[in-house]
Amino acid sequence: MTQDHILATRAAGVLELRFNRPEKKNAITNAMYGALADAIEAAGADAEARAILFTAAGDFFTAGNDIVDFAAIATGQAGDAPRHVGRFMEACIRAEKPLVAAVRGHAVGIGVTMLLHCDLVYIAEGAKLTTPFVDLGVVPENASSLTMPARMGHARAFAMLGLGEPLVGAGAVAAGLANAALPAAEVEPRARAAAQALAKKPAEALRLTKKLMRNPDVLSARMQEESALFAERLQSGEARAAFAAFLQRR
Ligand code: COA
Repeated sequence: MTQDHILATRAAGVLELRFNRPEKKNAITNAMYGALADAIEAAGADAEARAILFTAAGDFFTAGNDIVDFAAIATGQAGDAPRHVGRFMEACIRAEKPLVAAVRGHAVGIGVTMLLHCDLVYIAEGAKLTTPFVDLGVVPENASSLTMPARMGHARAFAMLGLGEPLVGAGAVAAGLANAALPAAEVEPRARAAAQALAKKPAEALRLTKKLMRNPDVLSARMQEESALFAERLQSGEARAAFAAFLQRR
């Protein structure tokens, strides 16, 4: 990558982080996780960034982890470079400033599980959320094995995590994953307005309110448990076959 795959801008107290790799449906590479983690961590110490807004260029929110990166790990070709996905997940889990998401298009995998660490989510009526971890031969990540059933109940969560069924627009609102389903053109302005409204609130009262509502240590412990299994599963025959099928389809 280049830094341009994540665009960071700040205005009216809101740090906007935009997925900007539309030609690959905003699939997230290791370098993109690194840029996101750096920006979220830095926002923690930046008095001018009082809320963080995730948004995306193009017709997808994000197609999730880059499968070329997954395949490189599965086949031992990823090298020794540090991997940043854990730092990104940890940064979201531990963010003390409110996280808002504008989900104008479809989201897959970590593009969905990251929404469970957001405090407000606005979604397009036609946007589809899918978590096909099992189909890829891996397991849920980003503490979603905990957050998803807690948010929507076991049955709905298992339909997503086990069967791979999607949630679409209003379905995400009904499941407690999003605040409102809107026409696509209204999603980003609405999410930005909400983030700007949060940026004007008394910052310390807001920080303490969020802190009372989340338990980062529990989420982080589950995320690490999942990550260990996920790393094992990346080397499995089931995962290798799934990645090869995706790459051959291309
Ligand atoms: N990783 C890497 N590249 C991806 C990608 C991903 N997760 N998702 C999409 N892309 C790439 C495609 O390979 C294609 O690249 P190409 O033009 O060089 O061939 C480009 O983005 C456009 O994707 P395409 O598949 O042609 O678009 P589509 O609208 O037909 O389908 C998806 C979109 C997202 C449904 C499909 O690409 C897909 O299933 N992606 C994988 C999603 C996934 O499993 N993510 C991991 C979750 S853990």
